[in-house]
Amino acid sequence: MTHHRHVRRPLVLALLLVAVTALAVPAPAAGATYPYQDPTLPVATRVADLLSRMSLDEKIGQMTQAERGSATATDVNTYRLGSLLSGGGSAPSPNTATSWADMYDTYQRSALATPLAVPMIYGVDAVHGHNNVVGATIFPHNIGLGATRDPALVQQIGQAVAEEIAGTGIDWNFAPCLCVARNDRWGRTYESFGETPELPSEMTTLVTGLQGPTLGGPTSVLATAKHYLGDGGTTGGDDQGDTALSEAQLRAIHLPPFQAAVQRGVGSVMVSYSSWNGVKLHGHQYLISTVLKGELGFTGFVVSDWNGIDQIDGVSGFTAAEVTAAINAGIDMVMVPTAWKTFINTLRAEVQNGHVPLSRIDDANRRILTKKFELGLFERPYTDRSWTSTVGSTAHRALARQAVRQSQVLLKNAGAVLPLARDGNKIFVAGRNADNIGNQSGGWTISWQGSSGNITPGTSILQGIRAAVGPTTTVTYNQRGTGIDRTYRAAVAVVGETPYAEGQGDRTGSMSLDRDDLRTISTLRNAGVPVIVILVSGRPLDIAAELPRWDALLASWLPGTEGGGVADVLFGAAPPTGKLPMTWMNSVSQQPINAGDGQVPLFAQGYGLTY
Ligand code: GLC
Repeated sequence: MTHHRHVRRPLVLALLLVAVTALAVPAPAAGATYPYQDPTLPVATRVADLLSRMSLDEKIGQMTQAERGSATATDVNTYRLGSLLSGGGSAPSPNTATSWADMYDTYQRSALATPLAVPMIYGVDAVHGHNNVVGATIFPHNIGLGATRDPALVQQIGQAVAEEIAGTGIDWNFAPCLCVARNDRWGRTYESFGETPELPSEMTTLVTGLQGPTLGGPTSVLATAKHYLGDGGTTGGDDQGDTALSEAQLRAIHLPPFQAAVQRGVGSVMVSYSSWNGVKLHGHQYLISTVLKGELGFTGFVVSDWNGIDQIDGVSGFTAAEVTAAINAGIDMVMVPTAWKTFINTLRAEVQNGHVPLSRIDDANRRILTKKFELGLFERPYTDRSWTSTVGSTAHRALARQAVRQSQVLLKNAGAVLPLARDGNKIFVAGRNADNIGNQSGGWTISWQGSSGNITPGTSILQGIRAAVGPTTTVTYNQRGTGIDRTYRAAVAVVGETPYAEGQGDRTGSMSLDRDDLRTISTLRNAGVPVIVILVSGRPLDIAAELPRWDALLASWLPGTEGGGVADVLFGAAPPTGKLPMTWMNSVSQQPINAGDGQVPLFAQGYGLTY
């Protein structure tokens, strides 16, 4: 009897399970085990089915983003991590497109080896090209793209960058920065398309370039509108500082670019480190949930910045209270590069003790999973290697050179000294930024801060000049200007800034050229030769006092690897057409100085000469 009863119960249970399953959801398409794996079903249906099968730990894993240097492929599997990132410069070795793709596929294979086989999503900062990858095309930084006033060009750049990213497997770009940089002292001024909201708003075409008209195309990469909200408005341009504005001012100056990005279907938004009137954005439920998700109708997911949740209480090391504040404020995915196990355990405890409602966890998961389904990650989880050869391709470099041409802003041209003659000329080139790919690319290039030197294949401005001239023209280069004499017909001094990123680029003191640059220019000027100054910098500099002794001034910004585009303008292969995206100060004492603030600038926003 006992035996018989034992046999009967499993059979009954099995029949019950079949019955319940059959009733609960439609039969999956051929090849799919569960409905969520059936691409013929609506995304919302797939999300609901998958969510219904996930444990709390699987849901918390989906909300966790770890840095590649602190998480192995096994960790991705064991902890069900939903995302990985490469921080600035965090690359596989060797740093080649193929080894990036191999790295991505290894992580992805491990993510798919879990019971529910939910693919992970991998994010990078490809903010001016796939800039962590040696050999990638490096485009002008956003300040130069703002000078082009060409949203269609910026969309093309987004498409090209997406191809290079897709060729390495990566599927998420923490770009574009839609910051409205109001104080040029800020170290991230060059990541801004302009000081007034209409320029970043116009350039949200980058989102469409990266994602495609809808997510899911062959090179579709999830874009990120960042950093929400008011990162460019901090007092003194203090990176991660406090934006002291009324709500009306905050909305008028800093919100429009995010509205434009949401209207373009941007898939993610990254929260700013900064504060608004003393309250850290990473804990700001009103701005994240009520305004961004509610009023703007943002249906993608919100990601924290690097350890951003750790800043909420101003004390180092994140606490349960900070985790709860961030998640309940509306952050869906947490960029917690190294302490991600602590985060997982803390969030689990905060859900179990009721501080974080399960409904918030489910909402975050719905948002994240919806983007993963829309991106096609469940159907095409691995690198499409047919795009790998686009990394640094001739076509992409030609597009970057076009962008360099269009970003040059001519600010002075006394005696029409420009354009230079290609033939029968004798040109002296000087300055530490003349022959330096690293300096002309700026921060976020190969490494987080960027660095001087030949850090990646490209064309320096000097190389561009040499390539542009005819055989009857002499080009001499000496960084300090040593050797110049009055037999030269023109001297070109390429000066400005050396690479930096984020707070390390904040300039709280002088914004003038440094002594070496000034000395170099003097050497050229004392030879009695017309001097053309080219500023390679991430922002306007305080040069009004020196300008009268310069014959010409070209703002080149941070052009990236295709320095040939600067030569195109110098020799008139293309006219300068760029317009200032930022007001140019008369003196550093005017900072912040912006269009319409009543101050008298050296050059107004929108200024730019041509020929
Ligand atoms: C950085 C930056 C952010 C970037 C993130 C990941 O600190 O603030 O722009 O996307 O961390 O590298």
